[in-house]
Amino acid sequence: MNTISFNRSCIVLLLFLALGSAMSCRSTKKYNKFTIGFSQCTGNDLWRRNMLAEMLTELSLHPEVDFHYLEAGGNSATQRAQVDTLIEKGIDLLVISPNEAEPLTATVQKVMNRGIPVIVIDREIEGNGYTAFIGADNVEIGKMAGQYLSQLIANKGKIIEVTGLSGSSPAIDRSKGFSEVINQSKGLSIAKTVYGDWMEDTTKNVLLKMHQQLHDVDAIFAHNDNMALGARKILRKYYPEKRIPIIGVDACFGEGGGLDMVYDGKITASLVYPTLGKEAIRTALDILKGQPFKKENKLSSIVIDSTNVRVMKMQAAMISSQKDDIYSQRKLLDEQKLVYKSQQVVLNIIIVLLVLSLIFGSIVVILLRDNRKINKNLAKKNLEIDTQRKQLIEMSKQAAAGTEARLNFFTNITHELRTPLTLILSPIEDMVKDTRFLSLAADKIQTVQRNSIRLLNIVNQLLDFRKIEIEGYLIQASPNNLVSFVRDLIEPFKVYALKKQVQLSFVPGEKEILAWFDSNMLDKALLNLLSNAFKFVNTGGFIKVYIERCGNDVSIQIKDSGIGMSEKDIALIFDPYYQADNSPSNGFGIGLSLAKEIINKHKGEIKVASMKGQGSIFTVKLPLGNQHLSDREKGAIHTSLSKKDEKATTYVIDPEIQVQDIKQTAPWGLKDHSLLIVEDNPDLLNYLVAELSDEYDVFFTTNGPEAIRLAKEKVPDLIITDNVIPGKSGKEVCKTLKGDFRTAHIPIILLTAQTNSEQLVSGMNALVDMYITKPFLIKNLSASIKALINNRKVLKSHFTSDIELPNENTKLSPLDKKLLNDFSSAVEENLSNDQFCVDDICRLIGISRMHLYRKIKSLTGMTVNEYILERRLKKASYLLKHESLNVAEITYAVGFSSPSYFSTTFKAKFGSSPSQYKSKIR
Ligand code: FRU
Repeated sequence: MNTISFNRSCIVLLLFLALGSAMSCRSTKKYNKFTIGFSQCTGNDLWRRNMLAEMLTELSLHPEVDFHYLEAGGNSATQRAQVDTLIEKGIDLLVISPNEAEPLTATVQKVMNRGIPVIVIDREIEGNGYTAFIGADNVEIGKMAGQYLSQLIANKGKIIEVTGLSGSSPAIDRSKGFSEVINQSKGLSIAKTVYGDWMEDTTKNVLLKMHQQLHDVDAIFAHNDNMALGARKILRKYYPEKRIPIIGVDACFGEGGGLDMVYDGKITASLVYPTLGKEAIRTALDILKGQPFKKENKLSSIVIDSTNVRVMKMQAAMISSQKDDIYSQRKLLDEQKLVYKSQQVVLNIIIVLLVLSLIFGSIVVILLRDNRKINKNLAKKNLEIDTQRKQLIEMSKQAAAGTEARLNFFTNITHELRTPLTLILSPIEDMVKDTRFLSLAADKIQTVQRNSIRLLNIVNQLLDFRKIEIEGYLIQASPNNLVSFVRDLIEPFKVYALKKQVQLSFVPGEKEILAWFDSNMLDKALLNLLSNAFKFVNTGGFIKVYIERCGNDVSIQIKDSGIGMSEKDIALIFDPYYQADNSPSNGFGIGLSLAKEIINKHKGEIKVASMKGQGSIFTVKLPLGNQHLSDREKGAIHTSLSKKDEKATTYVIDPEIQVQDIKQTAPWGLKDHSLLIVEDNPDLLNYLVAELSDEYDVFFTTNGPEAIRLAKEKVPDLIITDNVIPGKSGKEVCKTLKGDFRTAHIPIILLTAQTNSEQLVSGMNALVDMYITKPFLIKNLSASIKALINNRKVLKSHFTSDIELPNENTKLSPLDKKLLNDFSSAVEENLSNDQFCVDDICRLIGISRMHLYRKIKSLTGMTVNEYILERRLKKASYLLKHESLNVAEITYAVGFSSPSYFSTTFKAKFGSSPSQYKSKIR
């Protein structure tokens, strides 16, 4: 997905998240939850059940309210404890109908003190320490009862009053109102007041005990309908004929309630005492919601008797059925709410899915669009790549054809070389045998012969390599005894081994090992390995050839004690014409890669193990049997090895000329200049020494480390070095010598076969003075040597601090020359150092103070300090002449500690002060 489409997807996703959170807000509407506790004094009568039912009906409209209900069973202590429980539940408001006034007053106070509002319902407490009171005017009810009874018995007669619980406020108030009215009438009296504690059974028990007193009673007033019913039952039991008015309070609707009692004629009348449940809940919610409410709420009452009981019952029935309707509608509403809720969930899910599908749809559209774009681009790129591929194929075809053509051309040329070479070799062979020629120029004739053979060998190998390299080339293998084959190959090398003083041994594991090989090819491989060993082995070393069975293979090992190879060389020696930096002059040539190709064609393998200075082991493994060969690779029978000697001759460089045999042709020590020649090819070295010895004192060596040693010891006037020499390359020798103040001035000519510009630059970086590529003409080399030596002389005469020797014609011994060179170089190097002293020189050139003094005095006619001063002043005069430095700068550049001292000394030598000297010249 690219960045744009990713961003788009992010936006869509964010929209989706926003929508999701909006939906979740929509579905979680918050209510303010309220907890209302209701402490009921007793709960087992119809009036109280009606009160609770009213409350619950009202609460059903308020789902935000949690309602806790506890009833105390008519026990004040229990009720107190239950109030505590409700407080612990964390109620927000308490509704209490106190069992008795006094015992519950403090409890209500405690609740109020906690900041919890309290609604006192029905029965009162002492004082008005509550939030609201809901009840009826019980004094008034008592009065109404008194008045009603007075009328019924025409203000004459005795009345028994059955009161409620003595400590409860309705009992007290109703009694008060009732006696007030009765006492106003002379004909009326309250014959007896008994406590029925609001219960039918208590009433019956009390009246039972005093049933004789009922005999002349004219009316009974009970504070509630239950107690009125109890009184009636006792009256009927003892005086079944007696009919007197009995009235109660409550007029409850419901089966067996006060209305039924009146209706059934069980009691005469009942005064309505409202159950107050609905009012209590409404007032509670007003208080909790902070809305206005009335503190004192007293409902009125009416008398229900036979005259209105029917209507009242009907009304009550209607109200009840309405309540039922409300209930069922409420239930229905709840059910619908549930349905609505689940529908809302489904709707939410549908909306979410819709939004999701919209989001994913748009993502898919975006991705498809991007994909289409990408595909288009890809198709375009593919087309481009395809075109480029075709172009590349075409180009590589052309390149291959070009290479092939060049190789063919090169092969043809190589082929052409064979004829003239053969024509050179035949007369040379004749000349070598002819003593007349030999007496004239034996060395030169032999050099021509050796190098012609070498050239012929290179040409032959190139042709072989080319032949084998061509695809589809097949060897012609036949079964032969490999042991005798190898022995025959080694035989002719014994002569060379003797000459080079190398111990050559053949160590076969067994007499006969039959193997399938192409003798015309395998001999080339093995001869190359042998000649390679001869090239690297030193005089006094050894070459050992092992042959043995090795599982399903035969192994041929050629081990030499030669100079060995570095790891870098080992990795590359099988590359055609890889030239190791320190390999002998003709390097590894093409021979080793040809050997590898031949072994590969035999399905064998070739490996080399070598360490620098430790010699090398080449191991050839060939599979035994002929399973690995195709029919076409099984060829003619073994060809004879009759020309082995000839082959060996072409493979091994004739070691007749040894470096130690090379001598100067002219006497040494008489020439003006000396040369150091570093070359490991004996023929070339011999040639150079012979050509240059007439004019120069010639020192020579065949390797790098020795070249460095000789240069320091002899301090030649010029060095000629081949680049590829053992031990250290010519370039490395050059770098070392140019970095040493004792030899830095010696011009160096680097001889090399390398001609490309990169190699030239690396030669220059090594501070080579001249770069001569092989082949070269000796007269050109001579001219170059002369020019370089001459240049150095001119430079020397320009050089400010050159000191002439007392006698120009004095020929210095090499040792003196070296000492003088070291001494002057050390001084020159340190001219600017004003602390430089004799001890420093002794340390640098490694001789004693005394020796230095004597030598310098005898060679230069000066003391060491005079010499140093002389050189400082000469350099100063040069700098004044040629450089734009001021006097102060020159003072320090030539190692004077102060300009005034410099000035005085300079004037003493040159007759004028440095500044005068400078202005004269300019
Ligand atoms: C019910 C009841 C009623 C009476 C009221 C007084 O428990 O006894 O009959 O009117 O309580 O609080």
